[in-house]
Amino acid sequence: MKVDKIAIYAGSFDPFTKGHQNVIDRGLRVFDKIIVALAHNVSKKTIFSFDDRIEIIKEIYKDRDNIVVDSFEGLLVDYSKKIGTSVLLRGMRSVSDFEYELQMALANKTLYSEIETIFIVTDSKYSHISSSLIREIVSLGGSVKKMVPGVVERRLKEKQKQKKR
Ligand code: PNS
Repeated sequence: MKVDKIAIYAGSFDPFTKGHQNVIDRGLRVFDKIIVALAHNVSKKTIFSFDDRIEIIKEIYKDRDNIVVDSFEGLLVDYSKKIGTSVLLRGMRSVSDFEYELQMALANKTLYSEIETIFIVTDSKYSHISSSLIREIVSLGGSVKKMVPGVVERRLKEKQKQKKR
């Protein structure tokens, strides 16, 4: 019997970018199924609410049965234990990501020795994209059309319109 290879791709996804999409697409060349898990992070000031972010990611992947959109509260390792998947997928854009990623991977391993973090190097086309950069560009009125999926761009425009009212 073939057992599906499943990975958890966790993040804050505020907003979800073409870089995230690229990591998921390429992750599916290695894994049969990817669980995109949105972290509840109450301390962060976000551009999209938690519900909006879940809705956006679900809309992007509505026709894909090998991509499951879920969320979790608390520690990622506890979530991974709960759903019975011990592989975490992360994107690595550049050397500057390395320190943070290494720290997180080692902390997760210390918390739960079964956990394995697998890195995919983000395509160079998207390596300059980060959610924080997008938030800044948006706050200054710039276009992020080339950096985010169409659904996200549309939702950002709606948000800007609502603000102007
Ligand atoms: O998109 P991000 O902000 O890089 O994702 C970071 C995330 C959500 C994966 C990380 O902050 C996380 O795992 N948060 C859950 C809380 C937790 O387990 N913290 C310890 C990880 S070292």
